[in-house]
Amino acid sequence: MSQAHLDYEDRVNLGSYYTPLKFVQLAWELIEPYIDSQTTIIDTACGYGDFLKNYGQSYTIGCDIDEDAIDVAKKNTNKVQFFRTNALHNVSRKKFGIPHQHTKLIVVGNPPYNDRTSLIRHKIKQIDFEVDEDIASRDLGISFLRSYNKLEADFICVLHPLSYLIKQTNFRHLKEFTANYKLIDGILISSGEFPESAKHTPFPIIIAFYQRDIKGMDYDYIRSFQFRTVEKKCFCLSDFDYITSYISKYPSKKQQILDDSLFFWTMRDINALKRNRTFIQNHSSNTIVIDKTKLDYYAYVDVFKRNIYRLPFYFGNCDVPIDDKLFKQYKHCFISDAIRHHPYLENHFQIEPMEKEKTDIELDKYFRLLLGRYHNCNTVF
Ligand SMILES: C[S@@+](CC[C@H](N)C(=O)[O-])C[C@H]1O[C@@H](n2cnc3c(N)ncnc32)[C@H](O)[C@@H]1O
Repeated sequence: MSQAHLDYEDRVNLGSYYTPLKFVQLAWELIEPYIDSQTTIIDTACGYGDFLKNYGQSYTIGCDIDEDAIDVAKKNTNKVQFFRTNALHNVSRKKFGIPHQHTKLIVVGNPPYNDRTSLIRHKIKQIDFEVDEDIASRDLGISFLRSYNKLEADFICVLHPLSYLIKQTNFRHLKEFTANYKLIDGILISSGEFPESAKHTPFPIIIAFYQRDIKGMDYDYIRSFQFRTVEKKCFCLSDFDYITSYISKYPSKKQQILDDSLFFWTMRDINALKRNRTFIQNHSSNTIVIDKTKLDYYAYVDVFKRNIYRLPFYFGNCDVPIDDKLFKQYKHCFISDAIRHHPYLENHFQIEPMEKEKTDIELDKYFRLLLGRYHNCNTVF
C-alpha cells in the first residue's frame, strides 16, 4: 500500500496521499515532448519517487520532508539526487543543486494540498513547517505552486485541486504564479480515485500543465479554458450561467428579520450544497434571509440539490448552473417540487402545485436541456 509507513495523523499533516500510477502516467504524457538532454526534472514532494522517471533528461531531483519516504525512494532508484528537506523554506534553485540558472527546469508531482489550519496540532511540532513569507498561504498546495515560480521552472505538471483555479479567491491567492504561468493543458480527475479518500465527498483535481509565460493568465482565461476529462470530453466554465448572477450566496448584515421571513442555508459550491440543507425554518449566522422577490431562484437551488446526481464530479466546486430563459419556462415545476419538499412554502407562492409525476417529467427535460452533453456522464460524483 502507498504511504504505508505513516499513521493517520502524519498522513493528514503531510498531505500524503500518493498518486495512483495511471495519473502519474497521464502527467508524464504531457511533459514528455518537452524533455531533452539539457532538462532537469524535479519533484519537491516526491514521496516514494513514483513521478521520477527517466526520459533522457540530464538531472533528476526528488525532495520530501518525510525522511522515511526518502529512504524508500532511495532504495527504488540510484539515478535521482534526493533531498530530505522542507520544500517551502528557503526556496531557491541553489538549495536543490540545480546546475545553473539557464537549465531548463520541469516540475512534476503531486504536492500536498491541505489547509494548514486543519493540521492535527499536537503532532506537528516534530515537523519543520516553516514557509517562506513570499509564498505563504493558508493552503499548502498554493504555497507549493508559488514555490515553483520561485524556482523559475519552465514547465510545471502537477496535480492540484481544480478549486485553486476556478474559485476566484483562490485564484487571487496564487498571486505572482498566475502572473508568470499559463495553463496550457489540464485533465480533470476525481479525488475519489485516491484509495484513501472514501470518507470524503469527492472533489475535482486537475492534472495541470503550465508553461512559464510573462503574459501570465487572468481569471477570464480560466473561465474560457477547455479542461479535458479522462473520458475525452471537454469542460468549460463559460458554457454556463450561474445562480450567482441572480442571488447572493452569503448572508448580508443588512438583512432584516421579520415575523414572516424565510431562511436559506449559505451557499458555497455544489459539493457544499450536496452536504447542506437549503430552506430552513430558523435563523442562525449561517442563514440567508431570503429576498422574497427572488424566491423562485431559491426554489431553483433547492430542486437543483436533489438533481446533483445528474452532474459529473468536475462540477463539484462550481456554483449552481442555470439557464435563466429556460428556467422561466419551467418555473412552475420547480416551485411545485420545492413546495412538495417544504410544504410551509405554499403560502408564499401564488400557484397551484403541479402533480408529482408531471413535475418529475418536466424537471427531467429541464436538466437534460441545461446540461446537454454533461448530463449523467459516466463519472462517479
Ligand atoms: C500527495 S503526496 C505525493 C507523494 C508522491 N509525489 C506521489 O504522488 O506519489 C505529498 C508529499 O508531500 C510531502 N510534503 C509535505 N509537506 C512537504 C514540505 N513542506 N516539503 C517537502 N515535502 C512535503 C509529503 O511527505 C508527501 O510525501
